[in-house]
Amino acid sequence: MFFDILTLFPGMFESVFADSIIRRAIEKGLVSITMDDIRNYAEDKHRTVDDYPYGGDPGMLLKPEPVARAIQASRRRHGGSSPMVIYMTPRGELFHHRMAQEMSARDGLIIICGRYKGLDQRIIDAYVEREISIGDYVLSGGELAAMVVVDAVVRLVPGVLGNSESAGDDSLYDGLLSPPSYTRPEVFEGRAVPPVLLSGNHSRIRDWKISMAREITRQRRPDLWEKYYAKKI
Ligand code: 6GU
Repeated sequence: MFFDILTLFPGMFESVFADSIIRRAIEKGLVSITMDDIRNYAEDKHRTVDDYPYGGDPGMLLKPEPVARAIQASRRRHGGSSPMVIYMTPRGELFHHRMAQEMSARDGLIIICGRYKGLDQRIIDAYVEREISIGDYVLSGGELAAMVVVDAVVRLVPGVLGNSESAGDDSLYDGLLSPPSYTRPEVFEGRAVPPVLLSGNHSRIRDWKISMAREITRQRRPDLWEKYYAKKI
C-alpha cells in the first residue's frame, strides 16, 4: 500500500517514519511512504503557495493550483490504482478505527495536509474523498494528524504486525478499554500485583480482566459502554 503525503513541511515526518513498526513495514516492502512538498508545484518564481481568501476573512488559504498539481503528480506516479484522497482538517469527520480499516483496504492514500486557514473549497469538491479530523482541538497544521492516520492504517496492513503485536487480543475485550496490566516485581514501592493474576487460575484471571475492562470503560467512556451494552442484549 502506498501513502503519498502532500505537505509544506516534509521534514516533519522523517523521524516518525524512520522508527519501529512503520520502518519495518517499509523495509518489508509492505508499504511505501512519500512526502511531496506542495511548494515544488508552485508556478511563480517566489514559489507562492498561499493567498488571501475572497470575502475578506483573516488569514491565508493554500492556493488551489499547486495542490491540484501535487495530487495529479501522485496519481500519475501510481497510474492504474485508485487511492483514497483525504484532507486533514479540524472540520473533518472524526477519525476512528473503522475508517482506518476502510483505508487499509485501498491500494493507496493521498493525504493532503492543510496549513494556514485551509484549502480552497474547489480542491475539496474536485479531488477529496474524505475530510478527516483527529479530535476536537486545533493543531498548527495537518501534519501531526496525518502521522496519526498513517500509523493507525499501517498497523492494519496484512503482514505488518507480528503475532504478539497483532490486534487479535483486542477481541477479548470486544469494544472495551483494556484492563490494567502488571509485570515483575510482585511488589513495587509497596504496591502489590492483584493476587488473582498470580493464582494460575486462567478462567478466574480472564473473568477478572473482563470485569476490570468493563468498569474502566463504564467510568471513562460512557459512549463506548453504551455501544458494548447494546450489543450484549
Ligand atoms: Cl486534521 N488538522 C488540524 N490543523 N487540527 C486538527 C486536526 C487536523 N485534527 C484535530 N485538530
